[in-house]
This record gives sequence, C-alpha cells and structure tokens, in this order.
Amino acid sequence: MTDKPLPLTFPSFDEREIALLRECLDSLWVTQGPLVERFEAQIAGLHDARHALSTTSCTSALHLAMLGLGVGPGDEVIVPAFTWVTSASCAEYVGARPVFVDVDPVTFNLDLDKLAGAISARTRAIVAVHLFGLAVDIDAIRAAIGDREIFIVEDAACAIGTTLHGRPVGALGDCGCFSFHPRKVVTTGEGGMVTTNDAALAERVASLRNHGATGIDANNPEEPGPWTMATFNRLGFNLRMSDIQAAVGLAQLEKFPALLAERRARAARYNALLGACGGLQVPDHGAASGHAYQSYVVRLQTGDRARRNAVMKQLAQAGISTRAGAHAVPVLGYYRDKYGYRREDFPLAVGCEDSTITLPLFPGMTDADQDRVVEALLIALGQGSAA
Ligand SMILES: Cc1ncc(COP(=O)(O)O)c(C=O)c1O
Repeated sequence: MTDKPLPLTFPSFDEREIALLRECLDSLWVTQGPLVERFEAQIAGLHDARHALSTTSCTSALHLAMLGLGVGPGDEVIVPAFTWVTSASCAEYVGARPVFVDVDPVTFNLDLDKLAGAISARTRAIVAVHLFGLAVDIDAIRAAIGDREIFIVEDAACAIGTTLHGRPVGALGDCGCFSFHPRKVVTTGEGGMVTTNDAALAERVASLRNHGATGIDANNPEEPGPWTMATFNRLGFNLRMSDIQAAVGLAQLEKFPALLAERRARAARYNALLGACGGLQVPDHGAASGHAYQSYVVRLQTGDRARRNAVMKQLAQAGISTRAGAHAVPVLGYYRDKYGYRREDFPLAVGCEDSTITLPLFPGMTDADQDRVVEALLIALGQGSAA
C-alpha cells in the first residue's frame, strides 16, 4: 500500500496556539486566570448563554451540573441508551439512577416517542445528548416534561457550533456541558464547560469546581487583610481549567468558524457521494438541522456487527482509519452488572453500536482524500470496483 494513511481526525494547531501559549507563560499566570475568563466569555457568546464555567472535561462538567442542580440519591436521570458512558455515569456519581431510553437509529439521539413513558415521579433530570453534533429536539423534551420540575442537562460534548431551529445549543435547557477533547472541533487537550442562563446554578458550579469555596464571610468580625480567607461551606473539588489550556482554546476559537464550515462542507460532500449507496444510512438531515458533524457517522442497515467489522477491517487495510460510533451504554459491564440490562432491552442502541462507522473528516482533507474513503467504502460494501 503506497497511499498515505488517512486519520479519523486531528486538531488544527498553528502559530496562534504557540503565540497565546507564550503570552500565558510570559505572564507567569498559569492556573485559572484571565485567559480562562476570556475563553469562558467567548464560549458563552457563541452559545447564547449568560454564564460559562470552564472545567477539566465534559465528564466533570456533567458531574458539576448534577451536583449543582441538586440531583442525588433516590432521583432518576433519563439518559439515551446510545452515547458516551459518562452521559450516564454523571447520574451514578451523585447516587442517582440512570434510566435508559432507546434511541432513534436515524438521528442517533433519544427516541422522543419513548421519552414520556420513561418519566416517573422520581425523574429529576434528563441528559439531552446532541450526539455527534446533531441537536436533539429540546422543545419536544420540554413538551414531554410538561409542568413537572425536571431539569434538562444538554450533553453538548460533540456540539460546539450545533444549532436547533437556528439557535445554538447549550442554554436551551437548564445547562449545557461541552468537551474540548482532541476529537472535538475545538480542543484544549482535555477540557470542558458548563453553560447556563441560571445565575444561581452558575454560582454553585463555580464554587464546586473550586474546592467548594464560598467567598469571604460577610460576618467575619476581623478587619479585612492578607489574613482574610475564603469560607468553604460546600464539599467541592479542584476541577479548574488552567490558563495554559485556555490559551490553546482561544487560538482554536479564532479558527473555529472556518473549521466548522469545512466540516459541514465535507459532510455535505460525503452525503452527496454516499447518499445513493444501498444499505447505507448517511447523516443527511439537511442544512437546517444545524448539524456540526463533530463526527461523520454512517450506519450499515443490516445491523450485523460481523459485517460492519469486516468493512472496517477492509478500510484499515486501505490505510483508512475508522471507529465505531458510540456505545450501547446499558450493556457496558458496569451497568449490565449493576442493573441486569440485556441487549434485547435496548435493541436500537445495540443495533447502532453494532452497525455504525465513523469516517475520516479532518482539517485540510482534500477531495482526493475523501474520494479515496468513498471508493474504499463502496468496494468494502460490494458496490464499487477495485479497478
Ligand atoms: C456525548 C458525550 N458526552 C460526554 C463525553 C465526555 O467528554 P470528555 O472526554 O471531555 O470528558 C463525550 C466524549 O466524547 C461524549 O461524546
């Protein structure tokens, strides 16, 4: 094989990251500081949120969201059955029980027709995952909730730049949780963010990520001075993002509009090239869907895992990296063993896990790179010629 390997994706770094990192290091301020504040303000602006609180990952953002909303033992949290494991683990972290709902195999998001049936008197929150960058319909979730007091936590790990009916996700529910892992369109190495319009929730999250610090005690009779210390009236954590990470994030945001436009254009081209391929479902939901295509995920309609694996193997032999889409979380060991879930309980999520393939989509991908992926996929599906 002489063709260069095609990666799934990689971050786009250049001199701007270096310049901002230098600015940060020269300032000698390397923990949470002015660059984090700038990064948070920009993410808040991008997602129409009044508050954005950075943290170490989307996983910690989800954890902080659950704590900040007061979700705890005895509560149920509704989670789509096909997602990344931490969409559910955040409920476990706080002693709540995740209640899984099967997904729509076309959008890969929560099946909204099954949602109402999963809501009980114990439901305290719904983790609304915008999987792979396609928004789940928050208005429909709100309609299913009705006048019950149930929080909507948007798992927007994959959804920087995603819109729903033209509005950015992240503050459509009670809060949003973003990821800046290197497979995301904007990366800080590792990193996350909680976005919200709720000032009280923002204050709790800010405190919980910072050791539970609750400010200066107004009733302290001492004269204020260098001896004055913060109070810690909550049990908190150190889940702060550093200015080093925010320096990278700020440089990334400068190129974000171009990166997003490139991903959308490449996805539209994949959709056009693969849309007529028999037995293959492509993520074509129209430009108005607001899909950000953090991942470009196709599904083999046979649902046969061995067949899917054979296709992935053939692509690997052609130097083309792929990954499965996501997990059927209820049947991962921890959840299966704790709650006794079986594959047949979530047939659509299991089907999605078994039949999805994430295709390469990386910065600077050329038409020739993309044609190579399409050709190899069609051959692997028995619909192309190896000539
Ligand atoms: C839907 C979803 N939620 C949560 C996460 C966790 O993000 P992080 O790696 O930043 O903790 C991911 C990671 O890919 C994800 O895809």
